[in-house]
Amino acid sequence: MPILTALLLLLVLVFAQVLIAIFSATLGLGFIIAFVLVIALAGGIFFATTAYSVFFGAPFVPTDEQRVSAMLALAELKPGEKLYDLGSGDGRIVIAAARAGAYAEGWEISPYLWLYSTWQIRRQGLGDRARIHLGSYWEEKFNDADVVTLFLITQQMGRMQGKLQDELRLGGRVVSYAFKFPHWQHERKDRGLFLYRKG
Ligand SMILES: C[S@@+](CC[C@H](N)C(=O)[O-])C[C@H]1O[C@@H](n2cnc3c(N)ncnc32)[C@H](O)[C@@H]1O
Repeated sequence: MPILTALLLLLVLVFAQVLIAIFSATLGLGFIIAFVLVIALAGGIFFATTAYSVFFGAPFVPTDEQRVSAMLALAELKPGEKLYDLGSGDGRIVIAAARAGAYAEGWEISPYLWLYSTWQIRRQGLGDRARIHLGSYWEEKFNDADVVTLFLITQQMGRMQGKLQDELRLGGRVVSYAFKFPHWQHERKDRGLFLYRKG
């Protein structure tokens, strides 16, 4: 009888061991599949938005901090004015403008940069004066902007000039880093930044 009990106990233990092995293998496989799916989804979003930004805007290259200050100075941004940064990247221009007392909004196509910049705005307590929109600036109108800031690529400057020509109010200022509009004459230039004023 004790031998039979021991054998039964051994059998139950082996059976339990097999069940645990099967469940942990299943859970492990499920975890691996979920992990691969999440990585594939995150990678897919990254490549899709990067491809979009390359073909319909500009890839992410941040403006250095010195030029961010120079941009706001060149635009003569005043407290209470509205600044829009089209393709706002990590939000540095929007944040600098809000810190200078302006109402600043950015448009960003990458959900990762949108998340990061939105988090930075919250973290720095600028939520009442700064906001980043997730989406393409081609889908928006910028009629009420005092200042628009841009860091695009040559191929997009003609299209952007047409858009701002239609939408920007008279006297609205535009500062473009590195790239000029094909048919507008800039008013001033500083460190590769071009200031335009809609006349
Ligand atoms: C050269 S970076 C400039 C970032 C920021 N303005 C700065 O100066 O630091 C251009 C940004 O525009 C974004 N972008 C490109 N095309 C866009 C579009 N159609 N709508 C919104 N954002 C776009 C890119 O994801 C990238 O973050």
